Amino acid sequence: MSAEFATPSANALPLHVLSEAALEGWLADQPGAVQAWVKAGGFSGGLGQALVVPGEEGTPALALVGYGTEAARRRGRFHLAAAAAKLPAGDYRIESGLPEDQAANEALGWLLAGYRFDRYRDQTPLAARLVAPEGIDAAQITALATGEMLTRDLINTPASDMGPPDLEAAARKLAEQHGAEIGVITGDALLENNLPMIHTVGRAADRAPRLIDMAWGDKGPKLTLVGKGVCFDTGGLNLKPGASMALMKKDMGGAAAVLGLAHMIMATGMEVQLRVLIPAVENSVSGNAFRPGDILTSRKGLTVEINNTDAEGRLVLADALALADEDKPDQIISMATLTGAARVAVGPDLAPYYSDDAAFVSALESAAAGSADPVWRMPFHDAYEALIEPGIADLDNAPKGGFAGSITAALFLRRFVTESKYAHFDIYGWQPADAPARPKGGTGQGTRAIYAALPALLKP
Ligand code: BES
Ligand code: MN
Ligand code: ZN
Repeated sequence: MSAEFATPSANALPLHVLSEAALEGWLADQPGAVQAWVKAGGFSGGLGQALVVPGEEGTPALALVGYGTEAARRRGRFHLAAAAAKLPAGDYRIESGLPEDQAANEALGWLLAGYRFDRYRDQTPLAARLVAPEGIDAAQITALATGEMLTRDLINTPASDMGPPDLEAAARKLAEQHGAEIGVITGDALLENNLPMIHTVGRAADRAPRLIDMAWGDKGPKLTLVGKGVCFDTGGLNLKPGASMALMKKDMGGAAAVLGLAHMIMATGMEVQLRVLIPAVENSVSGNAFRPGDILTSRKGLTVEINNTDAEGRLVLADALALADEDKPDQIISMATLTGAARVAVGPDLAPYYSDDAAFVSALESAAAGSADPVWRMPFHDAYEALIEPGIADLDNAPKGGFAGSITAALFLRRFVTESKYAHFDIYGWQPADAPARPKGGTGQGTRAIYAALPALLKP
């Protein structure tokens, strides 16, 4: 799936973006026939409305899209996308009414409205194509959209076609596209390379566990992204009930997000030394599955008592984070569909994240606001450290009681990063119902906010 703007041409239909408040003033300057047509068409400037207006020969002369009210816009993100889906086939160029500071996001929303998951069935493509509005960086917006579409495709693909080998293939394809280096450590080689917990979590599956390690760029600060690549999460022997397992093809959402973000970074040639680490496993059930009560020794040497094999994400991430940290990059960011508790706390629309670094927080928060990618800060609350200490091992992977489940998971991960700045995103990775530019299904979260924050974050 790729995203593209229409090439500018004289045939593109002029598009006027009209808020409810602006409609009357705009109409006052129009000929009577246009006024009558707009009224008859019921166009009121409401968010998501679209209307084509004919000229004297009856052929389309211009199009209107509703921009609603400030209050209506605050409830959503991409305000032209719903209207774009209603416009007839053809190319459109924005003629008036789009606030300059919204042009980039609205153009992005239009491209994202063209996303279709068509691997298993033909889908009707978006008919209306947008000419990139003036003043935006069209190549950058295209890269953001393409990265997001990659994330969506990876998450939407079911585990039958998106096991650890398939996730590896997707990473290799991306690496090849951008001239990145990639190495993969698979199966028993994980033990030889001291990545024991990735092996332990993934060993019960027929498709072997692996660590994907991609590197790109040789100038600039070092950024390492770590993504949870649990291609399916049955819960292991502490098996998930059916309703909780239903969506667990998306448990590689963190991996999908960091690959999408990596595409954005590489496609726009950001000056950064990027490394992407993805522990790719299936959390399966078999005679050789790891068990509740087992004590694992991690790459870092910390021992972990397994109190629930369903808290597997933090285990595979812990070894990947320890490896990332050995390199002492300037910034490590992990992204993971790590806990149900995060979903309960903030729901699917916000990306909860953890950081103790004021510079990271301020860069991210202002970037998030400008990229239609809302984030919410959560605390690395030191007082809860005791909750992850079981007594007979250094760490407990599933503290009893479940208090602050997303926080204790984040604190667990933080134990494995001691040399680098660290931020962690506990994302949901799934859009539960259709919204403009965001169809039901897999979704990136936090990636555009991180992308936009990086220049401020990584300046030397
Ligand atoms: N992949 C799940 C978390 C998850 C569930 C994310 C639903 C999004 C939606 C993770 O591996 C998991 O099962 N976590 C457990 C941890 C618990 C056993 C300590 C959870 O959150 O219930
Ligand atoms: Mn789990
Ligand atoms: Zn999981």
